[in-house]
Amino acid sequence: MREICPVVIGLGYVGLPIFLNLQKNFKTIGYDINKKRIASLKNKLDFNKEYKPNSLKLSKNSVFTNLIDDIKKGNFYIIAVPTPVKKNNLPDLTLLKKSCKTLSKIIKKNDIIFFESTVYPTVTDKVCIPILKKSGLTENKDFYVGYSPERINPGDKQKTLKSIPKIVAFKNNKIKNNVTKVYKKISKKIIYSKNIIEAETSKVVENIQRDLNIGLINEIYKVCDIANINFKNVMSLAKTKWNFVPYEPGLVGGHCLPVDPYYFSYFAKSIGIETNILLSGRKTNNKMVDFVTSKIFKKLKNISNLSEKRILVLGLTYKKNVADIRNSLAIKVLKKLKKKYENIKTYDPYLEKKNYKNLKIIKFDDIKKYDVYIILNNHDIFKKLKKFILKKILITPFF
Ligand SMILES: NC(=O)c1ccc[n+]([C@@H]2O[C@H](COP(=O)([O-])OP(=O)(O)OC[C@H]3O[C@@H](n4cnc5c(N)ncnc54)[C@H](O)[C@@H]3O)[C@@H](O)[C@H]2O)c1
Repeated sequence: MREICPVVIGLGYVGLPIFLNLQKNFKTIGYDINKKRIASLKNKLDFNKEYKPNSLKLSKNSVFTNLIDDIKKGNFYIIAVPTPVKKNNLPDLTLLKKSCKTLSKIIKKNDIIFFESTVYPTVTDKVCIPILKKSGLTENKDFYVGYSPERINPGDKQKTLKSIPKIVAFKNNKIKNNVTKVYKKISKKIIYSKNIIEAETSKVVENIQRDLNIGLINEIYKVCDIANINFKNVMSLAKTKWNFVPYEPGLVGGHCLPVDPYYFSYFAKSIGIETNILLSGRKTNNKMVDFVTSKIFKKLKNISNLSEKRILVLGLTYKKNVADIRNSLAIKVLKKLKKKYENIKTYDPYLEKKNYKNLKIIKFDDIKKYDVYIILNNHDIFKKLKKFILKKILITPFF
């Protein structure tokens, strides 16, 4: 086989870390349709704020590109494009299909194509491969397909991509050597599977379990709060049992938990199965917006001379230590608060100020000027603010 030349398609929260690990070892091509993303990466700027300029230095003649011609040279394609839901919560595979269509025009004999985008079971076989076959090539003879569910946890500096066990599923053992060569550079621990559908399912199942468990703990938190039972103390007691899993309540957002249960429930429906529990985490977790907002309203009401006080809301991204704002419930809470308190200002060091003009984001130096601080997402960087925030009025719905 020719020298391996990986191409990563989609350089977002998932694709960029994969690309960066590979480009240290192979000439790797990083491709994205977003021209601004490519231009900023070429300037060593990651607007997702996951990487500092030093980490974006390229080696082995690797490149960032938005030109299809550049990816023709590749032979090991890894696809990490978004798979969101539509407004009616049905799977939206538009971008995934588009990337397959692009590949169908350029793949050659012996190429390997790995999908990392989260999908419902059977998408690789029934949606992606038929599009790739439009190339005129035969799967498993001319080109080979695999699926590797992505478990990266953006913002987590401990569980980095390299340390997370990586499942790689493919049908034909002929490609095992090359798959191993590539994926060994992405993760230290490879888990092999011969079944792509099982690997696709395992990904959505992991996230459904988490979504449901957080939903359960959110519900318990709500009951304790209303009944005046100290939730933290309850958790400390319950944790002393060996098989109790201490999930934390919170605002569930992002591109995974609010999406993946809908993917699997769509699949279940498509084969005639009515599910009862799969989506219950979704309902409870979304309703936390109202609960958290009313909790904050109550606390604000108890503050004397509130009309003279300046209020600052901190932490607006979907979870702590990330810049990702997709499905951020903190933003939804903020919008509700602003309906009642128009002058509320916001601060979040992870947001690009120019992109969120309507949020009235203040400068770091001005933080001290406020009287009431509402923290929706406890970014680690806020620890630095404690010395002056603690002397003021602090509202934290969860911590
Ligand atoms: N973000 C996470 O934490 C996470 C974790 C596990 C799995 N996933 C899954 O990984 C996939 C990617 O998610 P993400 O968070 O990296 O998304 P993202 O939006 O951060 O990045 C996707 C990138 O793909 C590009 N893109 C879209 N269509 C393209 C195309 N046809 N060709 C080339 N580039 C294209 C976009 O411009 C964007 O830069 C999704 O299926 C998601 O569910 C995400």
